[in-house]
Amino acid sequence: MGSDQSIRSACAISNPNIAFIKYWGNRDAHLRLPSNGSISMNLEGLTTRTQVTFDPSLESDILVLNGRRLTGAAFSRVCLHLERVRHMAGINTYAQVTSENDFPTGTGIASSASAFAALTLAATAAAELHLSERELSRLARSGSGSACRSVPAGFVEWQVGEGDHDSYAFSIAPPDHWDLVDCIAVVSREHKPTSSTEGHSMADTSPLQAARLAQVPAHLDICRRAILEKDFDRLAEIVELDSNLMHAVIMTSTPPVLYWKPATIEIMGQVQSWRKSGVPACYTIDAGPNVHVICQASSAEKVFQGISEIPGVNAVLRAIPGGAARLV
Ligand code: DP6
Repeated sequence: MGSDQSIRSACAISNPNIAFIKYWGNRDAHLRLPSNGSISMNLEGLTTRTQVTFDPSLESDILVLNGRRLTGAAFSRVCLHLERVRHMAGINTYAQVTSENDFPTGTGIASSASAFAALTLAATAAAELHLSERELSRLARSGSGSACRSVPAGFVEWQVGEGDHDSYAFSIAPPDHWDLVDCIAVVSREHKPTSSTEGHSMADTSPLQAARLAQVPAHLDICRRAILEKDFDRLAEIVELDSNLMHAVIMTSTPPVLYWKPATIEIMGQVQSWRKSGVPACYTIDAGPNVHVICQASSAEKVFQGISEIPGVNAVLRAIPGGAARLV
C-alpha cells in the first residue's frame, strides 16, 4: 500500500467529558451535526492513550483496545475515521491503532469521546496533517459527536453550527477556572444495551424531543453563565433539569429505553437531599446507569464517602476539570 514507504507514528492522550447540557439527536447523522448545542467539562483522571502507526507493510487496518484485537462495529467505525484522515492527507497506507482506557468502556462513561479525540489527534499527527484545534474538533465530531468537546481544554461548548464547517467545540473556561470534582458512581460495568448512536437516531420519535430542543438555547445561556460566575446552585439546577429532560426523551422514544438501575435512582434522591441540607452537589447521567455527581472540591470527600455507601454502587471514580487532547 501507499507510495510513501516510511512508517509514521504518533501518540495522543485525551480525557472523556461529562455534558452539563446534553447532546441528544442529530440533524445529520452522517456528519454528526447535532440537533442542539451542548456544554461539558473534560475529566482529568480518566485517560485514553492512543498510538497510531501508518505502516506500508500492513494489509489492513488493525485496532487493539485494552490489549485485545477488535473486529466488528467498533473496528469499522475506527476504519471509517482513518479513511477520513487518509483522504485529507492524500495517503492510502493502513494503520495500526493501539488504544488503552484506564476506565471501564461502554458504561455511560463517554469512552467514545476520548477515543475519537485521541484517535483524531494521533492519526492526523502521524499523517503529518497540521490541523488547528477547530479543525481537529470538527474532524473528531464526525467520528463521535461528543469527541469534539474532548479536543479543547477545560469547560467546553459545542456550538450547533449551520453545517460541517462551523459545528465544533471551543473552551469557555480553562481547567483551573473552577475546582469542581466529578465523583462517578459506577453502578454497572456491563455493556449498555442501546448505544448512544442508536439513541440519537430515535430521539425525534419522542413527543418530548421538540419541547426539549426549544429549551436548550436558554439552558445553554444559564449553564454558561453559571460556569463563568462559578454559581454552583444555578449550575446544579440546570444540570439536573437537562439530564432529566434527556432521559425523559429516551424513555419516551420508539422503542423506549430505560438506562437507569435501582442504584441510579437511589443516588439521584440522595444527591438532592444532600443539596437541600447545604452540600453543593448535583447529578447528571449519560446514556447508561452510572451517575456523575458534580460537587465543589470542598465537599468532594463527603460526597465520595456518601456515594460509596449506597448499595449497588460498585466503585466510585474521581475526576477534576481536564486539559485539551495532547500529543505525547
Ligand atoms: C448522552 O457522542 O456518544 O453522552 O456521536 O453517536 O458517538 P455518537 O454519540 P455520543 O453521544 C453522547 C450522548 C450523551 C450526552 C453528551 O455527551 O452530550
